Amino acid sequence: MILVNEPKLGERELEYVSECLRTGWISSAGRFIEEFEERWAAYCGRRYGVAVSNGTVALQVAVACLGMEPGDEVIMPTFTIISCALAVIYNGGVPVLVDSDPGTWTIDVNQIADRITPRTKAIMPVHIYGHPVDMDPLLDLADKHGLAIIEDAAEAHGAEYLSGRYSPDSRWRRCGNFGTLSCFSFYANKLITTGEGGMVLTDDPKLAGEARSLRNLCFLPERRFYHEELGYNFRMTNLQAALGLAQLERMDEIVAHKRWIAQEYTRRLKDIEVLQLPVEELWARSVYWMYGVVLAEETGLDADWLAEHLGGRGIDTRPFFLGMHEQPVLRKRGLFNNERYPVAERIARQGLYLPSGLALNMEQLIQVCDAVHEVLKK
Ligand SMILES: Cc1ncc(COP(=O)(O)O)c(C=O)c1O
Repeated sequence: MILVNEPKLGERELEYVSECLRTGWISSAGRFIEEFEERWAAYCGRRYGVAVSNGTVALQVAVACLGMEPGDEVIMPTFTIISCALAVIYNGGVPVLVDSDPGTWTIDVNQIADRITPRTKAIMPVHIYGHPVDMDPLLDLADKHGLAIIEDAAEAHGAEYLSGRYSPDSRWRRCGNFGTLSCFSFYANKLITTGEGGMVLTDDPKLAGEARSLRNLCFLPERRFYHEELGYNFRMTNLQAALGLAQLERMDEIVAHKRWIAQEYTRRLKDIEVLQLPVEELWARSVYWMYGVVLAEETGLDADWLAEHLGGRGIDTRPFFLGMHEQPVLRKRGLFNNERYPVAERIARQGLYLPSGLALNMEQLIQVCDAVHEVLKK
């Protein structure tokens, strides 16, 4: 079976993790934590990084830092992982949904303004499958209405967005550079992995302090076992940070390999008319975290059908996200009654992603493409 993802770990990881074992620094203190935080923040052009135990809690901490009142609203795409909605709900807020752009599958920024109310606290853009959200209009809206941005860059390590594309001083900025607070996941299928892991980035020293405190049970610095706020144990270990730092050292290579995978897939699959392939807007440099494909609507075929036929040929796939408005657990809470998001609904049913991990080689990629041709061109 060619798996959807296999991580690629190297000698440097072994060296750094061995150092942790040799020196005994295996818990949430140690040199790798601070170095990983500093260097990942710097890579994304941010001042502060707060490493946490996964991407879901990174979002939860980031939303908590906004000081939500019960009923405060956060606007997000319906087409995303449930972590985004959970982060808001756990903080007493209400997720408010927006449909996707049919080309990039990221939040349709033209539909955000209509969803802003007096209760809106923040917007949560999610860079889906490694393609950046069109951030300029979103940042303008946030600015105009005094809203925070919780940027979910969990799938977009190293992706770039051309900021100010209509102005003479346009510049490329990395995903993770845009949020009041920006969040990453370092799960095993991400461009950088610490097994499990996440990080919150910000430029605001107060928010960074708040995130650090929440991550560590809200111990008071001056009086350790005394607590004025409810915190969490969301700490990352030095062992995990050692893995992350090792991979960060070869980030350019990692991004280049992801882009190579996408380029080869596109070159070999573009003749299949019934398949929509990932796009890259002129203002975007995608990292193609996962190479998603969507069956054309008129085929009437769904992704389960394609997954089954590819699976029979030894090719592992994953379905696309099911929109938040279609999640039973959220609907049971009375959310999203009668809400419809046609783009998200269609791509959820007709989209899946192909093996895209960093360990994928040319031979496997050709095997995947041959199987897709076989299934769809008969
Ligand atoms: C867009 C997005 N946000 C958040 C997360 C949550 O990250 P984690 O799995 O590390 O909790 C993921 C996870 O894969 C994700 O894809």
